[in-house]
Amino acid sequence: MDITKLSVSRKDIAAYRGDLLVICMAQPEQGLPSCDERLRPLAIKAIELGDFTAKKDEVLVLYPDRALEATFTVRRIMLAGMGKIGETEDACVLKETCRLVAGNIARQCAKIKAQSIMISLPDLARLGPGGVAEGFAEGVVLGDYRFRKYKTEEKDVEPYSGLSKVVFHTLSKLSEVRQGVERGERAARAANAARDMANEPGNGWTPSRFGDYAQGLADRMTMQLTILEKEDMQRLGMGGIIAVSKGSTEPPKMVILEYRPAQAAETILLVGKGLTFDSGGVSLKPAAGMQDMKYDMCGGAAVLTAMQVIGEERPDVGVVALVPATENMSGGAAVKPGDIIVHYGGVTSEIVNTDAEGRLILADALAYGIEKFHPCCVIDLATLTGAVIIALGHHYTGILGNNDELAERIREAGRCSGEPMWRLPLGPEYSKQIESEVADIKNTGGKPAGTITAAAYLQKFVGEVPWVHLDIAGTAWEFTEKSYIPKGPSGIGTRSLIQLIRNWSAFSSEN
Ligand code: BES
Ligand code: MN
Ligand code: ZN
Repeated sequence: MDITKLSVSRKDIAAYRGDLLVICMAQPEQGLPSCDERLRPLAIKAIELGDFTAKKDEVLVLYPDRALEATFTVRRIMLAGMGKIGETEDACVLKETCRLVAGNIARQCAKIKAQSIMISLPDLARLGPGGVAEGFAEGVVLGDYRFRKYKTEEKDVEPYSGLSKVVFHTLSKLSEVRQGVERGERAARAANAARDMANEPGNGWTPSRFGDYAQGLADRMTMQLTILEKEDMQRLGMGGIIAVSKGSTEPPKMVILEYRPAQAAETILLVGKGLTFDSGGVSLKPAAGMQDMKYDMCGGAAVLTAMQVIGEERPDVGVVALVPATENMSGGAAVKPGDIIVHYGGVTSEIVNTDAEGRLILADALAYGIEKFHPCCVIDLATLTGAVIIALGHHYTGILGNNDELAERIREAGRCSGEPMWRLPLGPEYSKQIESEVADIKNTGGKPAGTITAAAYLQKFVGEVPWVHLDIAGTAWEFTEKSYIPKGPSGIGTRSLIQLIRNWSAFSSEN
């Protein structure tokens, strides 16, 4: 797909020549929705008849009549509903409305094969023109996502390859709106990159590909890359990732990407599960749905694609990304139920179920990352448990951790990114479930509270360092229905991490 070009303009919308001009309209508490006076004669019938009421998700395509053609040069005009804009909605809720409306616009464009469009940005006082532009740019780029790399046959005679040009029309300060568009575009492109990684099949996106991608980032934006190979992991005593990789012929990789700001500053450690295919290993998964386990690398994808934006925006906080990457396969050399392994740092673990492999690779990464980089805090993202889908469905990401303030910051960053999170508890009762008869711990805690016992396992490896774990198993794909979320992988986590880092920089420069 060709890359979509986004731009900003203050020129009169009537002069726009393209496939489509989009007018965003809010639903008023009383009376009829209002729009540009010159378009009123055209829109008025539909509005009066109630065919268009400006509800969220509602759109109406109109064609300029002879009279209007004298002033407007565009081929089609779309009215896009924004729903009711309440008095009490905060900036984060309004930004999500912008994303949703923009996502809807992108979807409608695919139906009518519109490629060059102008969106007239609405005025939302509590969000401000920069925030409106950000939400729209993000939503349109996310909503225009498609993955067709492996399609060699097109059903359509004239396939639609997505939006080529989007002009955002504004009456506000150009620089502010441009900055907003750039912020939204960067975040959306990063999330789309995470979707691309996840859409790749297991034989396309291997652990080595995580290494290649990080190499590209390191070269392009001066970040330091280290890749630990299998021998390095063996030498360092990373018994978790070694055990998980034993059944596979794909070499495991531990990808470490370091961003350092110009001034010395604290470091945030991001860890992402990069399981490029999870068959379950000897504790083999059922065949039905197993193909979805190519998505078991979405935590790693979120972390590396967030680094892409961190490299571009160069915040004043250090960020280190760590992605333990491997396959989980069965076979003669594979780790077996009952085996005991030794993690980085010496904790021993009894493998009860080889399908509880995510915690094994994360444990090594967390222990190693904390010892090596002395981070101020650690955040890990992982498609860790099916149990989180039982608890929260596909609508909220599970959030757990040992530090309320950090958990709250991340939850808020998620909320403002349209990626809601719900906190689950930790505690000694749960840690007790993973005590082993023969080793320090075991890798499953039974059926009850599977998401919490998995996090309790990770907790053993973070000590007192402020740490938050995001279980994205329910949201990394099949994420809640939204206009800007396609079927398949959602790209979850990337934008929340970017938001967190942006807030962090703003926070530390204020203090
Ligand atoms: N990658 C899976 C978790 C998963 C399951 C993600 C379904 C998305 C959808 C993980 O490695 C796993 O297999 N977890 C087991 C743990 C159990 C054996 C304790 C699970 O959730 O069943
Ligand atoms: Mn598994
Ligand atoms: Zn897994």
